Amino acid sequence: NGFLLGSPNSISSASRVLTQDELKKIAAYKAVEYVESGMVIGLGTGSTAKHAVSRIGELLQQGKLKDIVGIPTSKMTHEQAVSCGIPLSDLDTYPVVDLAIDGADEVDTFMNLVKGRGGSLLREKMIESACKKFICIVDETKMVKHLGGSGLAMPVEVVPFCWKFSAQRLRNLFEDSGCVAKLRVYPENGEPFVTDNENYIVDLYFQKDIGDLNVASDAILRLPGVVEHGMFINMATTVIVASELGITIKNK
Ligand code: 5RP
Repeated sequence: NGFLLGSPNSISSASRVLTQDELKKIAAYKAVEYVESGMVIGLGTGSTAKHAVSRIGELLQQGKLKDIVGIPTSKMTHEQAVSCGIPLSDLDTYPVVDLAIDGADEVDTFMNLVKGRGGSLLREKMIESACKKFICIVDETKMVKHLGGSGLAMPVEVVPFCWKFSAQRLRNLFEDSGCVAKLRVYPENGEPFVTDNENYIVDLYFQKDIGDLNVASDAILRLPGVVEHGMFINMATTVIVASELGITIKNK
């Protein structure tokens, strides 16, 4: 059994295996069902969240949603939302956001997340920490037992000033976990990746478990030069996971 294409909610026999992007879209469309007219919505960043943004735009065009204000979590999402006709604002004007919908790179069994492999962790964290409800949308490949255990990056945003010093201190913090710290670069030219807030990203790769996430978070944030990290601990209120078998919704 699998999803019937074009009918995001139903689980039915499908004639072919769904692509990862189709699963992302199914999770995104399900999350948009939680959006109500009049809401202030945090608009996430990435290939999963972009389906939610275009769906919200579509429902606005059709008149099925009204008076939505979007708060984009990146310059890229800002552009997409403008092209979809979603009215936009910011946290200065709306310090309380009703609902945010965003993807993640990893989701553990307690609904803690790693975010920021797309580079937008700072604005995402600011906006998603201001939300009454934060729905995280993922396909099943993002589900992990422990954060940082997938061998993929845990991003830390640092100021460009003496970034090597910051990377070294980050590495030292997690020496026991065999941590490797690498500056993120653009693959096409090897230049440092620059975030929307003009910072750099140091990606941490762990050989072992990160350990207590709150302890790790506090230690990272205590380092001068660090702006924010990509662990979103205890922030998601709902996780929607799409897999070939259907949609799973986990609530806090
Ligand atoms: C961007 C993010 C994204 O939400 C995360 O990288 C997931 O992206 P995608 O939906 O493309 O897999 O945190 O900073």
